[in-house]
This record gives sequence, structure tokens and C-alpha cells, in this order.
Amino acid sequence: MNDLKFDEHTEEKLETINYYYKTWFGIVKRQQTNIIDAYAGTGYNEIRGKSTKRKPGSALLAVDLFRYDDLDNLNLIFINKDPQETDILRENITEYIRNSRIEPNVISRVTIYQKDWSKIIDTVIDETRDSIRLFLLDPYGAKSLPWVKVKKIAEEAKSKYGYKESGTEILINWAWHTLRRLLGKYYKSKRESTINHYTEVDNLDSFFGGDNWKNIADKYPDNIFSKEDKNPSDIRRLMEGLVFHYAKKLFEFFRYICIHPVYARIQTNHRDWKKRGEIVYYIIFASNYHDAPNIISTKFKEYITKKIYLPKTQKNLDKYLQSKKKRLNTHHQRVTINIKIRRMEEHLQKRLTNTQKRIIKSFYKRKNQDYGCYEFYLLNEIGFGKDDKEFQELMKDGIIATRQKEFRTSNGSGQYLYLKHKDLVNRQNFLFFNEKIYKFDTGELSEVE
Ligand SMILES: C[S@@+](CC[C@H](N)C(=O)[O-])C[C@H]1O[C@@H](n2cnc3c(N)ncnc32)[C@H](O)[C@@H]1O
Repeated sequence: MNDLKFDEHTEEKLETINYYYKTWFGIVKRQQTNIIDAYAGTGYNEIRGKSTKRKPGSALLAVDLFRYDDLDNLNLIFINKDPQETDILRENITEYIRNSRIEPNVISRVTIYQKDWSKIIDTVIDETRDSIRLFLLDPYGAKSLPWVKVKKIAEEAKSKYGYKESGTEILINWAWHTLRRLLGKYYKSKRESTINHYTEVDNLDSFFGGDNWKNIADKYPDNIFSKEDKNPSDIRRLMEGLVFHYAKKLFEFFRYICIHPVYARIQTNHRDWKKRGEIVYYIIFASNYHDAPNIISTKFKEYITKKIYLPKTQKNLDKYLQSKKKRLNTHHQRVTINIKIRRMEEHLQKRLTNTQKRIIKSFYKRKNQDYGCYEFYLLNEIGFGKDDKEFQELMKDGIIATRQKEFRTSNGSGQYLYLKHKDLVNRQNFLFFNEKIYKFDTGELSEVE
């Protein structure tokens, strides 16, 4: 069979992608949408574990969404550099559509490029700008994923007026297993005081978009990966340092970053048994949509509590994960908008009028539009505009603000009114990692409760 072959941990990635695709599409399906799968594979994966399974890969998981696309809004773009794989992908998509009883004409909304994604992504970005977009970057390693191109996508999440807007999201397979190998070469060349491995260093520079990664790598001994001196906690700190460094770069464009470690969980006597319990890659997800971290974390949480079969040397990791399990049960009290308004009134030491509360609530229910709307919608809906006295008061107190926002479906822009007060909407940058939440502020990450 011509399927791409992967280890068991791939199922975790595919389940995450599938869950996010389905939930995301349920939310955005009333608008023009594009999924851009830059490393599209062949459509199916052969997954080796206790037994071998055949699973639909990311491309077919996206094609499956056509079953829910009653408004004909979904468009799919698949990119694969390999000519033979691209042919197989094309055949698999056609066959999948036929067998799943999906309308055959959806094929006109599937575009397949046989290209290096980094060579065509600029065009793809330009051609899809008027839609809601989800970019999937699922490479084998790190070398083909230059930061300049990832940044090009990320820039789309920010409007030309400098605001982080929802509508562009990225899911990245952040291939630690390759980075580790490249770093190993870097440390080796340092140990031997040679520059033999300059290509690997170039690859790392390209991946991280500069050589700042060295500030993190150089904190650790050059023999960090050597068998005799291997120190799991140093390696863990190095990994986290680097993945956080990458996340910080994404924070220039996104408000929410979620990072999920994917472990080798193999249970068989597979040749890679030594890798059991090790992190193979991180899934990094970046979004400006307030509910996205919640959605993507659903699958992450399921996997955090799943058993990992560890070699003896990894017992510390086991303990570490056990401590995470306890955190999952923390009880969250739901805070309603009425409670939020009351808290804000206490902080501001003033009472709002019923009309002002109505305005706030009408914004609050627009969660999917970043708790705001263009002025003309508001005039239509409740007959108020930003020049009204009640509104002016809300702006003066910093409860509501305006910004210029580009229209997605046509040229031009309009005044966008949105909830601003921190008691109502939290507009800070957050990193979600292993059930912990970090606030990102002035370039630094700090853990929050
Ligand atoms: C890890 S696999 C992707 C698996 C796929 N997401 C799935 O779930 O089935 C990586 C794929 O990207 C392709 N590829 C590698 N380098 C590429 C590049 N620079 N541009 C586009 N595709 C590339 C490979 O041929 C392979 O099909």
C-alpha cells in the first residue's frame, strides 16, 4: 500500500486535527472558509502500534467536512512537494468522495498543488484573504519549515491597523525529534570546536528565524544528549525553553498559543522502544479566537491523562505527568455576564444604566466576532451608535472602545466597536501548556492561576 507510515503517536495528532476541524467548521461554516494543508501527505496513514491500522490523514479529515457544508462555503487547498504522493492524494480524495456519498462536484473546491509549500504559500495567502483560514503545517522535520514563511502566515492574523483579529489560525507540528538531532550536531561542533556542522546551525537559524535560539541552547552543557551524562530535567528545560521561545515569536500576531507535547507511547518491542516516554513533537496551535484554546484543549486533556509506557530511566517523567492529572479536576465556576458587570461596577464605583447594560450584553453575545461589531450593525439592532450619550459614557469609562477594522468580504474598513474592560473580556495574551496557563506580557511569560 502507498500510505505514509507513522508510529502510534500519530493517532493523537490526527484525533486532535479531526476534533478541531469539526468543531471549528461548525462555528465558521456560514462564512467562506479555507483549510490550507501545506504538507498534505497522501490521504491515508498507516499507523504502527500493537497492530497496524489504516487511518485517514489530515487531507481526508478535511475532505470529510464537505458532509457538513450545506452552504457550499468550504474550500480546501492541499500542497505536497512529492509528485508521486500528490497523484496518490488526488486518487484517494476522489475515491473518498465517491465512497462517502459526498456531492461529487465538491471536487471543484479542492485545489491540489504539487509544490514546495514555502514556494507557493505567498500566492495562496493572497488568494484566500477574504475567507476564514486554518493553516496546517505538519512536516516530517524542521528543515522545511522556515520561520520567514510561518511568519508570513502569522502576519495575516493581524490587521493592517495593528490589531490581532480572529480569522487566521495555525496548527504546527513542531518536530522536536529533528530539532534535537540538529542541536546534537551543534553541541558536538561546540565540543570539538569545529564548524563542521554549520549546515545544521543554518537550519536551526532558518527554523527559528535568527540565532537567538543559541542563547537558550548555550545555557546547557555540550554533552546534554550524550548517553552517559543524559540529564532528563536539563533536556526538558531545553525543550521547553525553545518551544516557549518560538511561541513568543507567535505572540506578535496571536493572543492565544496552545502547546501540547506528543509522547512516544509505543507498547510493542518496536526498534524505537528506547524512545518510549520521550516527547516526539509538540503541537503548537495559535489563534485569536477566544474559544479556540478551550476547543483544542479538549483533545489535549484526554491525552495528558493517557498512560505512557516508560523505560525505567523515564520514571521522573511519569511522576511529572501524575502531578498534572490532579490538576485536571479543578473545578471552574462559570461567571455570567451579569456577575461580570456587577464586578466592574464595583471597580468603577458607579452604576450603569439599563441601556448601557443592554449595549454591553449585545456585544458580549458576539463572542465569535471578538465581542464587538461594526457600528452600523449596532444602529440596526438596538438603535444606538457611538455618538449617543450612553455610548460616550461607556467609552469614557474604558468599557467599550473602537478600532478600525478591515471588511473581510470587500475592500475598505469600518469603525469596529468592542468590549474592552478587563472585568468583561480578558484581552491579554495567554499561553496554554500542560494544563498550566501563562500570561505573556512585555516579552515575558509568567504563570497565572
Ligand atoms: C508528516 S507528512 C504529512 C502527513 C499528513 N498531514 C497526514 O496527516 O496524512 C509530510 C508530508 O509533506 C510532504 N512534504 C515534505 N516537504 C514538503 C514541502 N516542503 N512542501 C510540501 N510538502 C512537503 C511529504 O512528502 C509528506 O507527504
